[in-house]
Amino acid sequence: RLLPIVALAMFVLTGCGDPYLSALDPKGPVAESQLSLIKLSFYIMLGVFIVVMVIFTYVLVKFRKRPGQTGIPKQVEGNHKLEIIWTTIPIILLLVLAIPTVITTFDLAEKFPSEDVVNVKVTAHQFWWEFDYPDLEVSTGQDLYIPTGKKVQFQLTSADVIHSFWVPALAGKTDTNPGMVNHMWFQADQPGVYQGKCAELCGPSHALMDFKVVAVSPEEFDTWVGKMKAAAERTPATATAQQGQEIFNKSCLGCHAVGGQGGKMGPNLTAFGDRDKVAGILEYNKENIAAWIHDPQSKKPGNLMPAFGDKLSDQEIDSLVEYLDGLKINE
Ligand code: CUA
Repeated sequence: RLLPIVALAMFVLTGCGDPYLSALDPKGPVAESQLSLIKLSFYIMLGVFIVVMVIFTYVLVKFRKRPGQTGIPKQVEGNHKLEIIWTTIPIILLLVLAIPTVITTFDLAEKFPSEDVVNVKVTAHQFWWEFDYPDLEVSTGQDLYIPTGKKVQFQLTSADVIHSFWVPALAGKTDTNPGMVNHMWFQADQPGVYQGKCAELCGPSHALMDFKVVAVSPEEFDTWVGKMKAAAERTPATATAQQGQEIFNKSCLGCHAVGGQGGKMGPNLTAFGDRDKVAGILEYNKENIAAWIHDPQSKKPGNLMPAFGDKLSDQEIDSLVEYLDGLKINE
């Protein structure tokens, strides 16, 4: 009964009511078992808080200074009985916390999938996320597609500084460290879009380093993989987009891949036209795409993309936008 109040307080404090950005509203088995640990430690802390506050208030009232009282009261030092009590109680409480935590940790590790899994390699960058599916030969940026009801196994690393991969509704955080690989897994039981965050201060745009987990049925997931692979065969729909593609191949392909071709310095743009955010933060529309290309630093300070406002004409940027907007795999 207390949990909704805490949840509400947390929403107010974080200023967000997104149901899929809360560890208190788990959408998969990993987040569920972690929530039971959160509840256990919350209730223990609440118990300690109440007991301490009751004793504190009692002492304040009982030993207050009364009229006519002068000087300091009698000083007391050392009490073996009390000291044993207040040492034993915390030890018991810590054991009550530690045993389920260790059991849950080992239980989740034991359930670590080996067969019938989706493997995803996560590489964090300042300030975006790269998702590679090594078995499926597909890559995405910012949007992580997963099938529901299946375990997804992650290998996490970073291309620059330490970041932390966090999808509150699906699992706790795991750091991504340069030069090393961490492992974790989670599973989404229901289809939906789950918000993800970078949870480690990583530079000026740390707070803007959002991503999305898109959980779809296994059939839809297979369709998505097929479409991602078929994207290599796409051709621009209009002459303007065709011109945009030429500019893209000259100026952008070195860093951004489309349909399996191109660099990996920047996000993969194969399904760029299907996104609902530009650079993970701006509302998706042509004006914002153009504004981003003009001057990415003003939108996400510290990112590596150069400004093209002084390298390309407005007309060139417009055709580039038309080409990017046409990079859809869903109709
Ligand atoms: Cu990446 Cu914070």
